[in-house]
Amino acid sequence: MKRIMIGTSWKMNKPLSAALHYCETLAEQLPAVLHPAIQPFFIPPFTAIQPVTEFLQRHQLPCLTGAQNMHYAEEGAWTGEISASMIAETGATLVELGHSERRHAFNETDGAINKKVHAALRHGLRPLVCVGDSAEEKQWGVSPETVIRQMKIALHGLTAQQVTQTLVAYEPVWAIGEQGIPATPQEAAGIHLALRGALCQCFGDEIGQKIPLLYGGSVNIDNAVELLSQPNIDGLFIGRAAWDAAGYCALIKRVVEDFIAKQQ
Ligand code: PGA
Repeated sequence: MKRIMIGTSWKMNKPLSAALHYCETLAEQLPAVLHPAIQPFFIPPFTAIQPVTEFLQRHQLPCLTGAQNMHYAEEGAWTGEISASMIAETGATLVELGHSERRHAFNETDGAINKKVHAALRHGLRPLVCVGDSAEEKQWGVSPETVIRQMKIALHGLTAQQVTQTLVAYEPVWAIGEQGIPATPQEAAGIHLALRGALCQCFGDEIGQKIPLLYGGSVNIDNAVELLSQPNIDGLFIGRAAWDAAGYCALIKRVVEDFIAKQQ
């Protein structure tokens, strides 16, 4: 059985004090509910990455950490930006790239995301590439080609070895945030099947099948199990429902009891 990735980006939330408070609750509650088939991950804002990573290591919590963005350049005159080597130095091993909030609010292009993916891998970071269709693209019936295009450009030029280090998250723009309507498990499964097909076509079946495909967009405790039950959904990328550590642990408990336990 593939290890299921279940994690969260805190977006621009949680100053250091709140981040560490979250970690304390995790240390109290996560060990009792976690199962080895699940790989938890946490993506704090830059200022909290290192302390959160160190806290999780100190408490021997088997969790990965990551950054929410980075620049593709190695270094230089890029005021306000953070490089891959700076992230690697914090102890984090993941970097989220191409979230729709970055594409839309900060004009991130597919080409820039591709450069970031290459830079991340050069520094031993695993890119978590987000792709997503807008409400209009969904209405026009072009969701599969939209996300396949985004993914192919993001992964362009990677070697087979590099691509196995990469994670992809399907995050429909219409499903994210307060106004979002979660994709039905069937809708998500349809897009994940299309993404899987494109991965196998580009990198061959063996590698294409290995790349974890996560779903994100209004994931919550009530839809997590049904989403994970779909073929080609290998993990969940959660926002609001996991910003409270107790909520995250409750979701993990539900997945272990209602999904993992039933598969064994
Ligand atoms: P949400 O965010 O779970 O709050 O909809 C998801 C995301 O942006 O990854």
